[in-house]
Amino acid sequence: MRCALVSRSLDLRGYLAAEFARIADRIEIVDHRRNGKDTDIRLAVAWHPPDDAFEHYPNLQAVCSIGAGVDNIVRCPSLRPDIDVVRIVDPAQAQMMSGFVVWHVIWHQRRFAAYLDQQRNGIWRRLSQRPPQSVPVGILGYGEIGHKVAADLALLGFPIMAWSRTAKPTPPSVRGFHGTSGLDALLGETEVLVNLLPLTDETRGILNRELFGRIRRGGYLIQVGRGEHLVDEDLLAALESSQLEGAALDVFAAEPLPPEHPFWRHPRIVITPHDASEVRVEAVAATLVATADAIRSGQRPPFAIDRQRGY
Ligand code: NDP
Ligand code: OXD
Repeated sequence: MRCALVSRSLDLRGYLAAEFARIADRIEIVDHRRNGKDTDIRLAVAWHPPDDAFEHYPNLQAVCSIGAGVDNIVRCPSLRPDIDVVRIVDPAQAQMMSGFVVWHVIWHQRRFAAYLDQQRNGIWRRLSQRPPQSVPVGILGYGEIGHKVAADLALLGFPIMAWSRTAKPTPPSVRGFHGTSGLDALLGETEVLVNLLPLTDETRGILNRELFGRIRRGGYLIQVGRGEHLVDEDLLAALESSQLEGAALDVFAAEPLPPEHPFWRHPRIVITPHDASEVRVEAVAATLVATADAIRSGQRPPFAIDRQRGY
């Protein structure tokens, strides 16, 4: 089966190159066609597709992301509603994300920002230690990645609350919450807030002044979902008023983060360049093969998202 590479920001051919030999017997990779129509294409792999990208493929059946998130694909105006959008589920990515979040939770709990300040000023002073049991963590998004993060933080002794849209079974070490009332309850007890939601119409702008006002004073934000979840000026105000002690930001509404953005120089913000955890290219290749097989046999691809929900 032929698979079109569709991206305006990434060299997908270069990205997939190491996997070509492995997938060659099932998939023929072809570059995106910018003119006319290619009626032979039923499968595409995409990341930030151009607005008109899918007009060129009238018989397209499925588009694979190269990440867990699919927001950059579902928002493409030329993507017809009947086309399956396939996300990547990669346990290794969840593990990398877990390490990233654990590191930031402990950064806050063990006051590493204060120790760095002390070091800069040559100050030898032990700060009081807080046990993990006294630092409740609220996780927004209890999906493939949220589950792993919750389980690992719970093992370290942090009280864990996790929020989803629908009710979910949880192990004894994780308290599950769902819906609007669930969010109220979770925020009321949260000190460290971890955002692991997908970007949808319902979640855009969720990290705002009102929400920050509901978590414990002196709280901490770990923002690894999508930049558009956050209202930037509300974060700056929450830091200014000390409602939040600090924030770790990995994703931004505009990426790369523009040089003039105030986040860059904020003393209580830690920035990483959308690098919290990446999908392994092997996982993308395996998903492409599984999707091609599903199309051939007239099945829905595994890990196809619900187009109505947007994730
Ligand atoms: P999943 O789709 O597996 O999980 C999403 C979770 O969010 C589910 O628990 C879902 O609830 C919940 N959710 C969705 N909408 C709402 C809502 N309106 N209210 C409450 N809960 C909601 O996604 P993943 O765990 O794989 O990934 C999550 C996101 O993390 C990705 O979409 C991406 O944006 C981001 N990400 C960032 C990376 C980075 O490097 N910074 C790397 C990887 C992912 P329910 O189960 O009830 O539907
Ligand atoms: C993803 C990401 O969605 O890297 O996988 O953000």
